[in-house]
Amino acid sequence: MSENRNADSGETTTGHVWDDDLADYTNQPPRWWMIGLAVSAIWVVVYFVMYPSIPIATSGTFTPGIGLPGSGQWTAIKEMEADQKDVDDVRGKFEKKLKDMAPAAILADKELSEYVSRSGKVLFSDNCAACHGQNGIGTTDKQGLFAPILNDDDWLFGGTVDQIYESIANGRQGMMMAHKSSLNDEEIKALAGAVSQGNPTATPLFTEKGCVGCHGADGKGMQAMGSANLADKVWRFAGTPEGIKYTIAHGVNDPGDKETRVAIMPNFTAAGKLSAVEMKKLAVYVFRFGGGKAADPAPAAQ
Ligand code: HEC
Ligand code: HEC
Repeated sequence: MSENRNADSGETTTGHVWDDDLADYTNQPPRWWMIGLAVSAIWVVVYFVMYPSIPIATSGTFTPGIGLPGSGQWTAIKEMEADQKDVDDVRGKFEKKLKDMAPAAILADKELSEYVSRSGKVLFSDNCAACHGQNGIGTTDKQGLFAPILNDDDWLFGGTVDQIYESIANGRQGMMMAHKSSLNDEEIKALAGAVSQGNPTATPLFTEKGCVGCHGADGKGMQAMGSANLADKVWRFAGTPEGIKYTIAHGVNDPGDKETRVAIMPNFTAAGKLSAVEMKKLAVYVFRFGGGKAADPAPAAQ
């Protein structure tokens, strides 16, 4: 076979020449490239021995003992567990502190309150959102749950972080007796009219019929018993005169009236569903919806 040479450069070619200019030369690839090729060939063997390489049926080689687990015994599960441990170490540091801290102290600690709000979000979705709506926006009256909105600053039982904790830990159940037998239709109508205007004291009946005993002389409610503020036009149940007549006639959580309005906040301690730490996390999380109130200021010295 005759030597194939490029006519211009004199370099050896394989004999494949196109259009006189384009030729297939026999030059060796550069040395660095050959070394790279050799190293990767060796790496294939090392990798093959150290890591699971041959998937067998459904188990693959990820299960040690079946197939080729690799001398390094690496598995995706082990790697995940190691990562999980790192996360747990960080969390453990926080969780330990939370045990002995009051909700207000957790809230005051910026780092801790960030941390609990994140886990609080998950707890809230799992335990509370069904009644209170995602992010505490409330549910529609049609659902009949009457769980109050938690992201506004209107509180039945109080919006300090400790009061919120109380609501969760001990449950809440405001009680207003039905008035259908103690008031006649005219009186109920007059009261409902005044209340619907956000001006409950406009009728003397409000005092005469004892509403003040629970809702206060100004009708603004008392948090100790969760009696709604009737002067703010924010409604727990209904704001129409008809709806308010119904509330007055049948009361709230009155065991003696079958048609009473029902609004019960479950007691999460008794239900055993949440630990004290989880309830603290939730209290801080709910507080941070934006409606939370700083503790009442200490009365000024006289
Ligand atoms: C079964 C429905 C239901 C579930 C579940 C529920 N709540 Fe309630 N919650 C209520 C009702 C109803 C009230 C109002 C009780 C009343 O009017 O007496 C309430 C009241 C509250 C209050 C007091 C609000 C105020 O204005 O003072 C807070 C705070 C609260 N819930 C937080 C939570 C948190 C946090 C969870 C989850 C751990 C939760 N709730 C789960 C129904 C529910
Ligand atoms: C025994 C105490 C008590 C008395 C007396 C009482 N209430 Fe109430 N009332 C409550 C409580 C507690 C609530 C809130 C219940 C809840 O949300 O769980 C309430 C809620 C209401 C509501 C619902 C407000 C809303 O936002 O939907 C109206 C309206 C109302 N009361 C009007 C009256 C009127 C009018 C009288 C006088 C005839 C009266 N109440 C007497 C305790 C009382």
